[in-house]
Amino acid sequence: MIIMVLIFLFVIGSAVVLQANLCLEKEILLLPPVNFTIIVTGLSKVLLKWKPNPDQDPKINSVKYKVRIHTPNEDDYETQRTQSRSVNVLHQGFSASVQTILHCDSSFFQSSWVSAELQAPPGAPGTSVVNLTCVTNILRNDVSLHCTWLVGKKAPEDTQYFLFYRFDTHTEECQEYKKDSWNRNIACWFPETMINRQGRGQLAVHVNGSSKQIAIKPLDQLFDLHAIDQVNPPMNVTAKLEGNRLYIQWEKPVSDFPRQCFDYEVNIYNIREDYSKIQKIQGHSFDLVIDPTCKHSLKIRATVHFSCRKNGLWSEWSQPIYVGEDEPIHLTEWLLSVLMATACFLLLSLFFICRNCQVWTKLFPPIPAPNRKVKDLSLSNVCEKTSSGETEIEVISYVEDPGLDHLDDSVF
Ligand SMILES: *[C@@H]1O[C@H](CO)[C@@H](O)[C@H](O)[C@H]1NC(C)=O
Ligand SMILES: *[C@@H]1O[C@H](CO)[C@@H](O)[C@H](O)[C@H]1NC(C)=O
Ligand SMILES: *[C@@H]1O[C@H](CO)[C@@H](O)[C@H](O)[C@H]1NC(C)=O
Repeated sequence: MIIMVLIFLFVIGSAVVLQANLCLEKEILLLPPVNFTIIVTGLSKVLLKWKPNPDQDPKINSVKYKVRIHTPNEDDYETQRTQSRSVNVLHQGFSASVQTILHCDSSFFQSSWVSAELQAPPGAPGTSVVNLTCVTNILRNDVSLHCTWLVGKKAPEDTQYFLFYRFDTHTEECQEYKKDSWNRNIACWFPETMINRQGRGQLAVHVNGSSKQIAIKPLDQLFDLHAIDQVNPPMNVTAKLEGNRLYIQWEKPVSDFPRQCFDYEVNIYNIREDYSKIQKIQGHSFDLVIDPTCKHSLKIRATVHFSCRKNGLWSEWSQPIYVGEDEPIHLTEWLLSVLMATACFLLLSLFFICRNCQVWTKLFPPIPAPNRKVKDLSLSNVCEKTSSGETEIEVISYVEDPGLDHLDDSVF
C-alpha cells in the first residue's frame, strides 16, 4: 500500500518536474482545439464543445482553454474543461472562439484561435416585437408571469406572435394571450409557472412569430427575476384613532420571504388639505399625530429589503383605509353656509329693489329721510347676524355703500 502511494507520488512529482523543465523552454508550440461546435440546448442557452488537438505534444499535460464570446456581448473566460455553457440572447446570432493556453511559471503560451458561429434566425427587420416587459407575482401560492409587448412597426396585419419562457430547464408556451384589434397577440398571462418563488435567477423569454407575407424576426430577452418580481401588498391593514394619535398595523405580504425581509412605505393623505405624507418603515406598526377633524386616507406598500434579495419593485398599494372626521359633516356645514349666503343675498336684493323703487316713495312722500336710514341700518344688522365665515366679508361690502345712498338722496 505504502509502496503504491510512493509510486503515485513519484509519478506526480516527475510530471511536475517535466512541466517545470518545459517551462524553461523559450517556445512551446500549442495547437488549437479541434471540432469546436456551438449547440443550442434551450431558449437563450448554448453549449460550446471542443476536443483537445490530437497532434499536441503529449508532454504538455496541463493546458487550459480560453473562450471568447464575440456576439451578442463580448466576454472572456478560461476553463480546464472541453465544454462550456452560456446563457445569451440568440436572435442576433452567436459567435465565439476558443484557444489552447498554458500558464507556465511567469510565462504564458497560447495557440491560435478556432471559431464557430450560429447564424441569426431569419426575419425581416422591424417585424419582431418591441418593448417587451414582464412581471412575476405570487398569486394563490403559484408564481404568475405577465408579459406585454408592442407589435413591430413593419409587421404585417396577419402577423401572429408566440411567447415562450424558460426558467432553468423548464420551457413553456403561453396559453392565454391578449389580442389587439387585428387579432395579433400583444400580451400573455401565465397564472402558474415553474419560476423560482423568491425571484432569484434569470428568466429567458422568446417571442417569435409567423406571417404569410414575410418572415417574422424573433426576439429573445433575459430578465433578472429580482428586478421583475413584484411582491404582494401588505395584508390586514388596520388603523385606530385615539384622540389625535393614529395607530396603524399590518402583516407581511403573501410571500416566501420571512417578516424581517420587508420594507414598507406608508402613505397618509389628508383629503381636505390635499396633502400627503410618506413614511418609510421596517416594522409592522406605526403611529403618528394627525388632525382628527380632517378625513385621511392611508395605504401601504411593500418591497423586499436588500439584505434578503437584490432590490426590486414595490408592491401595489394596499386598499385605502379612511380615518378622521366623516365627509358628510363637511357637506352639511357647506350647505348651511350656502343657505345663509343665499338668504343674505335675497335680503340685500330686496334692499336694493326698495331703494330703486323711490318712485313709490315719491308717490307716498310723508316718510322722512332719517327714518329710512334707521331702516337701512336694521337691515344690515340682520345680514351681519345671519352671515358667518367667509360670506361675511361679501355682505359687508354690499352694505357699506352709504355715500352713493346719500348722493341719490341729495339729487332727489
Ligand atoms: C472531429 O470530427 C470529425 C468529424 O466529425 C471526427 O471524424 C473526428 O474524430 C473528430 N475529432 C476528434 C478529436 O474527436
Ligand atoms: C418603447 O421603447 C423605446 C425605447 O426603448 C421608447 O423610446 C418608447 O417610448 C417605447 N414605446 C412605448 C410606446 O412605450
Ligand atoms: C417559435 O419558437 C418555438 C420554440 O423555440 C418553436 O418551437 C416554434 O417552432 C417557433 N415558431 C415559429 C413560428 O418560428
